[in-house]
Amino acid sequence: MKKSILVLLAAVALTWLDTGCGKKDESKGTEPAKGKERVFVMVPKGVHPYYEPCFEGFKDAAAKYGVKAEYRAAKGFEVPQEVEVIENVIARHVDGIAISALDDQGLAPVIEEATKAGIKVVTFDAPAPTSKALTYIGTMNEAAGYAGAEQLLKLMNNEGEVAVLQGGLGAPNLNDRFKGFERCLKEKAPNIKIVAHEDEQGKIDVTVNKTEALLQAHPNLKAIFGVSAEVCPGAAAALKQQGKAGKVILAGFDDLPDTLSAIRGDIVNFCIAQRTYKMGWLSVEKLLEAIDGKPLPKEIDTGVLVITKQNVDTYMQDMKKEFAK
Ligand code: BGC
Repeated sequence: MKKSILVLLAAVALTWLDTGCGKKDESKGTEPAKGKERVFVMVPKGVHPYYEPCFEGFKDAAAKYGVKAEYRAAKGFEVPQEVEVIENVIARHVDGIAISALDDQGLAPVIEEATKAGIKVVTFDAPAPTSKALTYIGTMNEAAGYAGAEQLLKLMNNEGEVAVLQGGLGAPNLNDRFKGFERCLKEKAPNIKIVAHEDEQGKIDVTVNKTEALLQAHPNLKAIFGVSAEVCPGAAAALKQQGKAGKVILAGFDDLPDTLSAIRGDIVNFCIAQRTYKMGWLSVEKLLEAIDGKPLPKEIDTGVLVITKQNVDTYMQDMKKEFAK
């Protein structure tokens, strides 16, 4: 091919990319100012493997709509740290932020600050109900806690002692789960006694220690239920160490890889999988709709699934079908 033709083809290709035709933009959201790429940032409660599929969904949707996706996580689950991360993001004048709120009151002021700066804010996974966030995208937590207890009471034959572990006592999403769990047992199985409800700070090592302490303090403990993601892997490890795997019922939220292995190995009886990928994906779509001036509903239910040995190897494919392109 002649050099002049090659130069012409290259120029056409460059123009094509420059006008955005090369991107998989399905034109959601009014066009950003020329030459300015839109930036959306996901801020989880802190570093935790639970958020990996959330960001997968966020990234995939961002690629589809031609938005730049970023992830900014504080090291620990500490309110001041999460606030600082969000303040840094606000200072960069990004276009949208999706937050998993560690706390309601603690985050409301920084969410207001972002809103005043013209940044669209949604919450995903964990809401901040009194804040100015435009919507909450995630599990309906009270109902999910109730559903967890309904599964558990059957396994417990409606009686015995259960201990509940929770990753932080301030987050409304986790407190709602516990509320639903407690309400279900009161209504449907009053002979089941909650003998402990303890904080493991969202940390697996703390969960292991707490589980060992619970086993010592409550020799008749029949079940452990986790309202956050690290409980099943942490408690499973402790039960194994104590030779109690399969002897104490273990169940709880989320489908971390170690939880799924423990279901296959009969150490975890069931888990409640949240639709984390969908939370991330919808966060991008709702931020774009907000930029377009569309009103958003107060909350968007992403739904949950109960995972047992029966569906542990098939549920993920079923969940992802929804997003197959
Ligand atoms: C919750 C998250 C939490 C995670 C790790 C999940 O069940 O939905 O809010 O960050 O567990 O503790």
